[in-house]
Amino acid sequence: MAAKLSSPMAPTRRRMLFLLLNLPLLHRPAATPVTIEFLYPNFTASSINFIEKGGLFLTSTSSTFSAILSSDSPQSSFVFSILHTPTSTIVWSANPAAPAPYNSVLSLSTAGLAISLPNGSLLWSTPVLSRHAAALQLTDSGNFLLLDAANISLWQSFDHPTDTLLSSQRLPVGSSLTTSAGDYHLRVNVEDAILFWSNGDQQYWRLSTDPLSVKDLNDPVAYMASNGTGLYLFSAGGRAVYFVNLPLTKLKFIRLQPTGQLIVMGYSGKGSVLNNELVAPSGACDLPLSCGKLDVCTVQSRGVVCNCPASLKALPAGGCSPTDSSSLASISDCAGNKNQSEASYLSLGSKTGYFANKFAIPASAGGNFSSCRSLCTVNCFCLGFFYQNSSKSCFLIKNQIGSLLSASNQGIVYSGEGYIKILPSSTQPQHDSAKSSNFVPILLPSIAGILFVVILFVGIYYLRRHKQRSGNNKPAPLREIYLGRKPWSQLTSDESSTRDILNSKDSENSDEISIQGLPQRFTYAELVTATNNFSTKIGSGGFGEVFRGELPDNTTVAVKRISAGITGSIHGKKEFCTEIAVIGSIHHINLVRLRGFSAEGRRRRLLVYDYMNRGSLDRSLFCTGGPVLEWQERMDVAVGAARGLAYLHSGCDRKIVHCDVKPENILLHDVGGVKISDFGLAKLISCEQSGLFTTMRGTRGYLAPEWLTNSAISDRADVYSYGMVLLEIIRGKKNWSVESDTSEGWSNVSSGEGEMGYFPILALEMHEKGKYLELADPRLEKRVREEEVERAVKVALCCLHEGPALRPSMAAVAAMLDGSMEVARPRPEELAFLRVLCGKKIVDLGSFGVNLTDDDEVGNGTASRSDAFAPRPKMSQAEGKGFSSLW
Ligand SMILES: *[C@@H]1O[C@H](CO)[C@@H](O)[C@H](O)[C@H]1NC(C)=O
Ligand SMILES: *[C@@H]1O[C@H](CO)[C@@H](O)[C@H](O)[C@H]1NC(C)=O
Ligand SMILES: *[C@@H]1O[C@H](CO)[C@@H](O)[C@H](O)[C@H]1NC(C)=O
Ligand SMILES: *[C@@H]1O[C@H](CO)[C@@H](O)[C@H](O)[C@H]1NC(C)=O
Ligand SMILES: *[C@@H]1O[C@H](CO)[C@@H](O)[C@H](O)[C@H]1NC(C)=O
Ligand SMILES: *[C@@H]1O[C@H](CO)[C@@H](O)[C@H](O)[C@H]1NC(C)=O
Ligand SMILES: *[C@@H]1O[C@H](CO)[C@@H](O)[C@H](O)[C@H]1NC(C)=O
Repeated sequence: MAAKLSSPMAPTRRRMLFLLLNLPLLHRPAATPVTIEFLYPNFTASSINFIEKGGLFLTSTSSTFSAILSSDSPQSSFVFSILHTPTSTIVWSANPAAPAPYNSVLSLSTAGLAISLPNGSLLWSTPVLSRHAAALQLTDSGNFLLLDAANISLWQSFDHPTDTLLSSQRLPVGSSLTTSAGDYHLRVNVEDAILFWSNGDQQYWRLSTDPLSVKDLNDPVAYMASNGTGLYLFSAGGRAVYFVNLPLTKLKFIRLQPTGQLIVMGYSGKGSVLNNELVAPSGACDLPLSCGKLDVCTVQSRGVVCNCPASLKALPAGGCSPTDSSSLASISDCAGNKNQSEASYLSLGSKTGYFANKFAIPASAGGNFSSCRSLCTVNCFCLGFFYQNSSKSCFLIKNQIGSLLSASNQGIVYSGEGYIKILPSSTQPQHDSAKSSNFVPILLPSIAGILFVVILFVGIYYLRRHKQRSGNNKPAPLREIYLGRKPWSQLTSDESSTRDILNSKDSENSDEISIQGLPQRFTYAELVTATNNFSTKIGSGGFGEVFRGELPDNTTVAVKRISAGITGSIHGKKEFCTEIAVIGSIHHINLVRLRGFSAEGRRRRLLVYDYMNRGSLDRSLFCTGGPVLEWQERMDVAVGAARGLAYLHSGCDRKIVHCDVKPENILLHDVGGVKISDFGLAKLISCEQSGLFTTMRGTRGYLAPEWLTNSAISDRADVYSYGMVLLEIIRGKKNWSVESDTSEGWSNVSSGEGEMGYFPILALEMHEKGKYLELADPRLEKRVREEEVERAVKVALCCLHEGPALRPSMAAVAAMLDGSMEVARPRPEELAFLRVLCGKKIVDLGSFGVNLTDDDEVGNGTASRSDAFAPRPKMSQAEGKGFSSLW
């Protein structure tokens, strides 16, 4: 060693060693100083950089607010937040529901602000900016802005509030505060500020009805805000429509608490603490969960007392349940096959009320008790009802049920006779449930044995086929659009863990039981019986024919037999079942429910849907002879369809673009209302065929322009199609009224608008002249409300904007139509392209090399004009690729 050290090489080696030893030291993050007010791109922050400061890396000029990677302890996950420094109150968070692992990095680049996970994938980011960001600013009012080179704001936290609103921050109509768990919302609409529970239909407070609020003006509300002396709903002109006077303080925080309470807190400067100045609702029993579920909440001198109603027993974990083995109805039953006709009701006594009844619009008024009860029975989402003898009002409680109120609470005017829906316990010997619960354990071993043999054979067969086919370019799987917080982890992890097994034996086996949320599985034979061997065809179209069927329990269903041309291209059974589970798990009052399916081999794939007795909208809207759809019904259909689509776009874990919005896919029912059908089926088609599929999707007349230019397709393509449908709803007639297709009965009806055959153009012109009434269906003979026609026409035109980004979201469309949001102004320059379309008369889709089909529906619909999905010309690989990128 000594000899070696003295060798000429030694000094170099020693220096290298020194460098190596110091490398970690050099790279050890030096404690980075906290910056004031501005940060500039390429800045990064991690918990480790700022560990001495508890994650704090930026403060406003006077240090009132700071930006912080907020975590419970060092080396635990963080939420990037803005903090009111003197009171340590978090006023805004980037990722409240998804804390970032401690070694994640927050980075500011010219593209905006982002949090990346250790493996590089994005956890959160600001949206795509219109220009490069040049700086990030934290102001003394608590606003956090991205600025461009000219100091113009590109994005600001004040426009994206979480659960807190600061003085000088506005909450405009149509936006909301939400708790981080997502269960409570404060929404502002043109009339009021409203607190909602759960999925948005149970209200528990309105500013207008709060005893402390004063109404000062009759104008529509434009935004909510607070200043040093009060809480306000302001008109667009900045005058107070409603106000609540509060003590003068320097700063106010309006905050939606995790319990659902809205509080206004005042801060009067250094050294002071936050004081609650307003608590809403003020009653201790007025929150959705003041007590446990179905617990009766009573206010007593010593506080709140919770007791189960006499007919129920208390659960150890809180809440109440039936005393016998029956169970409370829940919307998860809607996915299963609980027999709704076996529903019975338990009385809650006549001395109970429900918090939401105070604000709810009765589901019916003037009906009798038994009609109220059957309204609840036919609705699978109805979990109970209240009937008021005096007013004959019927209140349904849907989706979720909270605490009850005791009639001994003061001033209770919202009582009535309350009943909750009970379903027989699933452990009772009963046809359906026995099949799924009892039989499985007994049969499993033998099934497994048989399956194994089958798998082996099928696997060998598949491996061979696979080898034969693998010469072709194997298309990449459909790309899925994840937007929700939970990326369907259940399914995907499940899928990947079983994929290896599947690949080695590549089989049709797909351990079906392991897929969560699969709807009822039928055997092929059961469905042959149900449809009387497919004897009553009620529709057909792109995906296959639809038959009327009757299940053994006498429920009528629509059975869609997926055509052979399509089934040939569908993925393996596992993928099929996975998609079915996804579609089957989507429940919304305005979406047709998938009740079940059958998948015995590729040629026997069937989907079972709820039956909609009035068929599709085109039938009610366009057919002559029958009764004319009245204006109010039309608006109900328009709002219902918009809500259904809005749910697909943003209410589910995965965003689903429908791609084929048209009257044929909007189904009607006497009691079930309005439902969208055929959503989610895009996923059933393999990539190879998705090119084919996309051209088939979206029927002539409803296709958004971006389909034709091959640019990216987003949910806004559905908005465009919806706009076209809305115009048809207003007019009661197809938009292309001069089509050669003479099978359209109404096309001979004189339209009175001369050579102007394209209704969207007429709508645009009448909108420019301000003459809306002339656009309504002449058959209604002016039985319309002009302001509603105007509203609908404006909304429809906004939906038709050429630029997808300039179309409103479906949620905004629904809100504008139901009047809870101000209607946007259509932009003429974005609608000029309609005239070009009109000049061409018919959009030439021939270049896509595929015929378009016109009908595809589930309901008891129109006779089909088009054939089923017969084998069609295949697209070239290149075209297919172009389209596959859309998904
Ligand atoms: C920031 O990083 C990007 C890409 O890494 C680079 O192109 C850009 O020049 C950097 N900007 C500054 C100001 O360093
Ligand atoms: C990174 O990790 C997260 C979970 O920690 C995972 O969901 C994501 O798929 C990963 N991304 C990549 C590109 O590996
Ligand atoms: C932007 O604002 C900063 C800080 O106020 C200032 O230094 C800078 O000159 C401004 N830039 C422009 C283009 O106005
Ligand atoms: C708050 O706004 C109201 C209504 O615009 C106004 O009358 C009041 O003076 C304002 N208070 C403060 C402290 O600015
Ligand atoms: C309740 O009303 C329905 C129709 O609305 C009627 O058929 C039924 O007989 C009524 N029941 C009672 C008990 O009055
Ligand atoms: C409501 O009216 C029905 C019949 O009219 C009666 O049987 C019932 O007791 C009444 N309920 C209440 C709470 O008054
Ligand atoms: C559903 O309930 C009704 C009424 O109790 C009964 O007639 C029918 O057979 C039941 N269906 C099934 C599948 O259990």
